[in-house]
This record gives sequence, C-alpha cells and structure tokens, in this order.
Amino acid sequence: MKKVLILDFGGQYNLLVARRVRECGVYCELRSFRISMEEVRAFDPDALIFTGGPATVFEVNAPTVDPALFNMGIPVLGICYGMQLMMHLLGGQCRKAITREYGKTELTVCTDSPLFADIPEKAVYWMSHGVEVESAAPGFTAIASSEGCRHAAVECAGKKLYGVQFHPEVVHTEYGTKILENFLYGICGFTKEWTMESYVDTALRECREKIGSKRVLLALSGGVDSAVAAALLQKAVGDRLTCIFVDHGLLRLNEGDQVEQVMKGEFHVDIRRVNAQKIFLDKLAGVTDPERKRKIIGEEFIRVFEAEARKIGKVDFLAQGTIYPDVVESGLGGESAVVKSHHNVGGLPDCVDFEEIIEPLRRLFKDEVRQLGLALGLPESLVWRQPFPGPGLAIRIIGEITAEKLEILRKADAIFREEMAKAGLDRTANQYFAALTNMRSVGIMGDERTYDYAIALRSVQTQDFMTATWSRLPWDLLDKVSGRIVGEVPHINRVLYDVTSKPPATVEFE
Ligand code: XMP
Repeated sequence: MKKVLILDFGGQYNLLVARRVRECGVYCELRSFRISMEEVRAFDPDALIFTGGPATVFEVNAPTVDPALFNMGIPVLGICYGMQLMMHLLGGQCRKAITREYGKTELTVCTDSPLFADIPEKAVYWMSHGVEVESAAPGFTAIASSEGCRHAAVECAGKKLYGVQFHPEVVHTEYGTKILENFLYGICGFTKEWTMESYVDTALRECREKIGSKRVLLALSGGVDSAVAAALLQKAVGDRLTCIFVDHGLLRLNEGDQVEQVMKGEFHVDIRRVNAQKIFLDKLAGVTDPERKRKIIGEEFIRVFEAEARKIGKVDFLAQGTIYPDVVESGLGGESAVVKSHHNVGGLPDCVDFEEIIEPLRRLFKDEVRQLGLALGLPESLVWRQPFPGPGLAIRIIGEITAEKLEILRKADAIFREEMAKAGLDRTANQYFAALTNMRSVGIMGDERTYDYAIALRSVQTQDFMTATWSRLPWDLLDKVSGRIVGEVPHINRVLYDVTSKPPATVEFE
C-alpha cells in the first residue's frame, strides 16, 4: 500500500492535512519534523508533505529538515511554512511579506500545472502568512499568484516537487480537496487503496500477531470507540477477549442495554456488566459543582473497574480505544503541544494487572473508526451515535443529580434525538442533546398551576469540537420537540433552545 509521510512543523491545521489525505483514500502518518533520515527510510514513504508552522525560515533555530529528503526521488508537497522551507533549503529566497495575507484570498493560476488540473483560473484560497517567497529555488517556477504574493504556488515538475503558500486542507479553500487529489492521484499516481473494508483484514492480522494466544481485557464505556475496538478484538481473538462494562447509570435511554445486546447477542463478546448506578448516585448525592462531579465519576469508575478486574485476575493485554487524534494531541504523533490527556482512560492502567497495552484504533480518525465498525458488521444505530462525554448525563444536569432528574432528562433527550432523526438532521448536526437546568418556574397545564423544571435543548455545528456554532434548527422542529417534551415528560413545563456558540459557552451544558 502506498503511504505518505507528513512532516509536522507545528501549524494548527496539521492534523487536518492528515485527515484530508486519508479521506482521499491514501494512508498517511503525521510525524514531527525532527524525525531522523533513518526513521524516514524505515517508514519508506511514497510521497512527503510538509505542513505549515508558526516559525519563519530565517529565525535562529527555525525548524528544518535534512535536504536529502528532496533527493529520495519521491514527490513532495510543501504547505505554507513547508513551502518556504523547501525554497530556503534548495537555494530560493524568502522575505517578510510586503502584504501580509490572512484569510480568503483570490488566486490566479498561471500555468497548466497538474497541481491545478480542472480548477478554474481564479478561485478563493485560504492564506495565513507573513513571509513570502521572493525568488523561487533554481528549477522551480511560479504556477499561481495572488495580488500580494507572486509565488502563491511553485513547481519543479521534473522532480515532482510542489509548494503552496495557501492551505488546501481547510474548507475555506474552494478547491482544496481537488488540489490534494491532484497531488495524490495525478502527480504521485496513487489510487484509493486505503478503505476500511480493505483495512479490516490488516487490523485483524495485526491484532492476532500481537496477542498470539494471550488474554485481553477491555473497558467498554458504552461509546463508539470502545464498541468498535471490542468488535475488532472479538473477531481477532474470540473468547480470549473479556470486556468490563461499568454502567454508571448516567448513559442515555436504553444505551447500556443496546451496547450489551449487540456485543453479547451478535458478537458473542464475553461482557461483565457491572450495574453500578446506585454506587454512583450515592457518591454524587448533594454534589452540585461540575468539576467535582467529573472527579467523583472518574475515581469511582476506576474503583468499580478495578474490583471487577480483580475477579478476572491477571491479563496479558489491556486494550484501549485510543484513536489517532488522541495520539497526536497527547504529543506522540506530530509536533503539536499536548492538548489533553485521554480523559476517559486516564488512570486505568495503574490499577489493572496487565503486561502491555494494545490500542487497535490508534491509527484511525473518528470517521474511520465508524467506517471500520460498519465494515465489522456493527449496526448503524450504534456506530453513528454522536460523541458522548465519559461522565455522561451527570454533566447535563445542573445542580444535584437524583434518580428522578436522570429519568426526566433521559426521556426529554430521547424525544429530541428521535425528532432530529425524523427530520433527517441527525447527521447534519454534530452534537445535540437535552440538558436539565436547575431552574423551576410557574406554568399552567390544564387548569392547574405548575412549578416545574425547564429543559434546555442544545445542538451545535463543529468540525473539531474546539469551537462550535449553534445549529439553526427549523422552528417547526423545535415547536414539535417542545410540545412533545412538555406533553410526555412529567415535571417539565418549559423548553429553552441554547443559541450560544463556543466560545464563549462550551458544547456541554454543565
Ligand atoms: P466542551 O463541553 O468542552 O466539549 O465544549 C467538547 C466535546 O468534548 C466532549 N466532552 C467529553 N468527552 N469525556 C469525553 O469523552 C469528557 O469528560 C468530556 N467532556 C466533554 C463533549 O461532549 C464535546 O463533544
């Protein structure tokens, strides 16, 4: 299989570059620019991409690479800083840009370069740079320009070396995907080899080779990633996989049963379900601070898991549903700063008697995990569930958590999700749910005065969950959901829709 090595120079869109390449059906990995030539050769890439980054090439200690990379006889695409570095190392000149370009910029394509095949002469591209190429390196010519930037894209066709000052990976670049396709298919000659159907066999083989005849333990959370990991491992090693499913009673309506039924009934996974609702509710009694709720749930989860794991005894492998963005954001894959540690699995390894960790999804993006789940035969209703926080509904109830409040929230949330699906919006909105506010107010139902809770509905559009805008849901849909919730869920007499973006709010409502 052909593969691309993406060298990360620390720019904010770098993981997105990798995701776009994978979406084109080409396997790639993102590594820090500090990688040695030996490691590059061991990876044996068929093409290289240099990402953008915050540095400038003339800074002391600016990130750089061994120029031998350009003599490997494989195509290279430099993006933003990556292009400037390529010019700098190959004998071109960069300078501080006379016109600093930031945002949507019109570019004119000035040749029939294969990089711009089937792209209109003028289109909108996303630029973000304060440095520009003053003179291209020998052998290179400019193939696109903007008003403020003569070398908006360069090529050395003979050596298949390309550079672009703009960011093809972001959605604001009109033909960004087409440019990546032109590079990958047209210039490199790759085909769509990387599909989850074709990856299933490789993944199964790798798991079998690693696990051999040993035993694996997996913490099933009720989420998509651990469910896919369980399905994969079960197919790979059968009953040598044991799953512990700690049901903390904070899952959505019927969710725990659905996961158990699919995993046990259809995949014959050996599941030990611990129904720990009462333990968690007791620990959470009287707690109103969201951070304390999270902490209590995290700690209790480990305790319950540990007690169950002790019954199983020693295992050889502890499996985790870590996915590729976690690997990169933890500072292991690319050059990015540590953004977060894996919140759902943090701490588990310390309390379980195991020899090694196995992370069968660590190469996959979220959408790939879903595709793999489908390829393994998991039902769409399970695979296409939206992201759900580890602490569950506890962080969607403002104030104290009680069994009654959980029941109210579960019912309201299920109605909202059902109506979103009926309206065909369940995959358009990136995350949507109901939250129970701690506010009670006066209402009138029949001839009776009521004094009941207000439910808040939240729905957001986002690519990365770091920023989000609220979904412009149709009024009629909101009207229907509101009518159903007030009519069907006792103790709710008001429904609110959250019209706040992130920032300043967060996605969750805690
Ligand atoms: P916030 O509320 O921080 O949420 O804007 C961003 C995304 O992260 C999810 N989230 C979590 N996911 N464990 C998780 O697995 C958690 O503790 C957690 N807290 C927030 C949230 O659902 C949203 O998708």
